[in-house]
Amino acid sequence: MSFSLQFSHAAPASVNSPLLALVLPQDPSLDDALRAVDTPLAGAIQRSIARRDFRGGRDETMLFVGGDTGAQRVLLVGRGSAPLTLAVARRAAAIAARQACKLGTGTMHIALPGADAGAIEGLAIGAAAGSWAYPDLQTQPPEKDRRTRLQSVTVLGDDTDAMRDGFAAGAAISEGQAIAKRLGMMPGNVCTPDTFVEVGREIAARHGMTITVLGRAEMEQEKMGSFLCVAQGTPEEPRLVALEYRGGAPDQQPVVLIGKGLCFDTGGISIKPAPEMEWMKYDMAGAGGVMGAMEAIGRLKLPVNVVGIIGSTTNMPSGTAVKPGDVVRASNGKTIEIINTDAEGRLVLADLLVFAKRYNPAVAIDAATLTGAIVIGLGAHAVGVFGADKAAVDEVLAAGSAAGEPGWPLPLWDEYKEQIKSEVADLKNSGGRAAGSITAALFLQEFVDGYPWVHLDVAGTAYSQVDLGWIPKGPTGTPVGTFVEIVRARARR
Ligand code: BES
Ligand code: MN
Ligand code: ZN
Repeated sequence: MSFSLQFSHAAPASVNSPLLALVLPQDPSLDDALRAVDTPLAGAIQRSIARRDFRGGRDETMLFVGGDTGAQRVLLVGRGSAPLTLAVARRAAAIAARQACKLGTGTMHIALPGADAGAIEGLAIGAAAGSWAYPDLQTQPPEKDRRTRLQSVTVLGDDTDAMRDGFAAGAAISEGQAIAKRLGMMPGNVCTPDTFVEVGREIAARHGMTITVLGRAEMEQEKMGSFLCVAQGTPEEPRLVALEYRGGAPDQQPVVLIGKGLCFDTGGISIKPAPEMEWMKYDMAGAGGVMGAMEAIGRLKLPVNVVGIIGSTTNMPSGTAVKPGDVVRASNGKTIEIINTDAEGRLVLADLLVFAKRYNPAVAIDAATLTGAIVIGLGAHAVGVFGADKAAVDEVLAAGSAAGEPGWPLPLWDEYKEQIKSEVADLKNSGGRAAGSITAALFLQEFVDGYPWVHLDVAGTAYSQVDLGWIPKGPTGTPVGTFVEIVRARARR
C-alpha cells in the first residue's frame, strides 16, 4: 500500500522496468539517449515522431509496448513548448503516474532529458501527486479485478549533488503534501480537531519537535474569546496545536506558519446554502498545509527555526452558537462585533496571530481558505497574497512561484478599513461583499503586533472542484510547497 520514491542516475535505456516514462518537449528530436530506448522498440518512437503522431504537446501521451525485459512499456509524455519549470515537470510526471495507475504496472521509472535540479524536484512531486489516492472509505474490488497500485517510482537524473538535493526536496515535499491532502480529503466526521493533535504528535515524534496542545479550558485561560466564539456551537473540543522545529541557532527568530483548520464550515447561524456545502470539509486546508510543511521541513532537516501553529474547530449552528450582533473579545483585548457567523476563519486566526507573538517571529505567514471572494477574484490559479511588509510579501511571492503555487498581491489600503469599523465594538468581522478578501486580510492585520506578516488566501487553490488533468479533483497540496520553499530559501541565505 505504501508509496516510495527513489533516485537513480541509470541511463533510461538501461533500466529494467514495467514502465519507462520519458517527458519530452514540443516537437522532440531523437537524441542518442532516446535512440537507445527506441532500438528495442524497432524504431517505433522515431516513426511516431516523424509521422507527427506524437508532437510533445502539453499532456500528450503515447504508449509503446516493449518486450519482457528492459523497458517493458515506454510512455512518452509531452511537456509542450513552455519553459521548463518545476510546475511543468510536475504536471508531466503526474500524468505519467496516473497512466501507470490505470495500467497497473506497480512500478515506474521516469526521466526528463535535460532536467535541472528544479525539474527533478518537480518529477518527484508530480509522480507522487499522480499516484495519490484516498481509498480508506471505499470498498475495494476483489483482487482479480484490481489493478496494482503504483507503489514505486524511480526518478532518473544526472549523478550530481544538485540533482540528488532536488530529488530529496521533491520527495520530502510530496510526503508533506500527502499529509495535507489526506487531511483535506477526510470528511468532517473523520478529520476532527483531535486529528490535528494526532497528526501533530506523529510529526513531532518523527522529527524531534516540541508540541503544545490547547483545548477549550486553556484557550479560556488565554482569553481567546474570538477563536472560542466559533467553537461554542460544537461539543467537539477545539484545538490549538503548535509544533516547534529547532533547526537553526538557539537565538535565531523562527519562521512562524499559521493555518486555519475548520474541519467543517456550515456558516453557523449565518448558515450557508445547501448546494456544494460538502466542499467545506476543505476549510482546514491552511492547517493541513502547515502540518504538511512541518513534515517536509523535518525530513529535510533544514537549518532554520520554524514554528507551525494551527487552530481547529467546526463552525456549527446550534443553541449555543454565537449569533450575529454578539460582541466577543480577542486575546489582545480588541472587541469584535459578529456581523456574519460565516466569517469565522478570521476569528480563529485573530487569536492565533496574537499567540504567534510569543515566539518572536522573524516572519509569520498564515494560510487560510478565508474568502469566497478570492475564488471570484483569482480563481484556481493564484493564491491571494496580502501584507504590509514589502520584503516579506516579495519573499512569499518568489517562494510561491518557485514552488509552482503562484500567488498574486492585493492591497491593504487604509481606505478599505472603513468597511470593518463597528458602532459597538472595535471591529466587525465582516466588511460586506465589496473587496471581501481585502477586508478579511485587514481584519487579520489588527491582530498582528510588531512582526512581519503575510496572509495567503488559498480558498481557490487548496482544492479543485474539477479534475485538473494531472491531479484528480480534490485537494491540491497548496500551500505546502510555498511554505517549504520560504524556509529553504532562508536556509540558503
Ligand atoms: N470558508 C469560507 C470561505 C470559502 C468560500 C472557502 C468558498 C472556499 C470556498 C469562509 O469561512 C467564509 O464563509 N467566508 C465568507 C465571508 C463573508 C461572510 C464575509 C465568504 O467568503 O462568503
Ligand atoms: Mn465561513
Ligand atoms: Zn470558513
